[in-house]
Amino acid sequence: MRLIITSRGVGRWAANYVMKKMKAVGATDERNFILGLPTGGTAVELYRHLVASYKKGDVSFKNVTTFNMDEYIGLPEDHPESYHTYMRENLFSQVDMDPAKINIPNGNAPDLAAECRDYDQRMADCGGVDLFLGGVGENGHIAFNEPYSSLMSSTRDKQLDVNTRLANSRFFGGDISQVPKSALTVGVKGLLDAREVLIMITGAKKALALCQCMEGAVSQAWPITALQLHPKAIIVADEEACGELKVKTYRYFKELQDEFSYIDEL
Ligand code: GLP
Repeated sequence: MRLIITSRGVGRWAANYVMKKMKAVGATDERNFILGLPTGGTAVELYRHLVASYKKGDVSFKNVTTFNMDEYIGLPEDHPESYHTYMRENLFSQVDMDPAKINIPNGNAPDLAAECRDYDQRMADCGGVDLFLGGVGENGHIAFNEPYSSLMSSTRDKQLDVNTRLANSRFFGGDISQVPKSALTVGVKGLLDAREVLIMITGAKKALALCQCMEGAVSQAWPITALQLHPKAIIVADEEACGELKVKTYRYFKELQDEFSYIDEL
């Protein structure tokens, strides 16, 4: 696992990494770049940078196929807090994405189990995800895989933890009763199946989750620890999120970064 510690913007670093990867892997008509996408407050900066780069002519999304990691169940697609709305506002309506290449789980599908099976099939049919981006919850959830999710899980419906609903109530006028109780989410295994996973972590509230991710044992109690099983997982964190790390862990990764200073140019 790689930990990048940056005070120059976690979203900026992640956006630069996405663009570098798109160039390296190639994004062509024949071979689209398959990108897994998150929502949430942390990802807003990532999308801001991607949109700015698109407007400067540095990147195109014409040959990118996207898969969002999750969506609330039962929230209308055009609800201001649906992840469909979030993605439209933060990215899709501002870049040259082909709408046919956008995939977001349908939390209003008449048969949710069939929707989940179909979603996994669509990812497989594309040849798998090249790079899955994500954030983390204070309780260590990735996508909407709450604590005690199976580390072998695929896309399914998941009941949300009360802490997650509390954290997300800030988007629903501070009223937890307005936050849906369940969501469709790609599974932990679905994330691990991506060729690369990059998780953005910011702020002191996420420091325990980052500490578990780097120093804890692999455990369903902290789904983020499953990244330890991935051959190419990158965590990008700000200084505040590193507050619970052992000094030796922090120093090790800082020294690695100094040694490979080109990383910061990514
Ligand atoms: C949400 C999303 C996750 C996101 C996480 C952190 O509930 N389902 O995909 O990574 O929680 O969100 P935020 O960045 O707003 O803290």
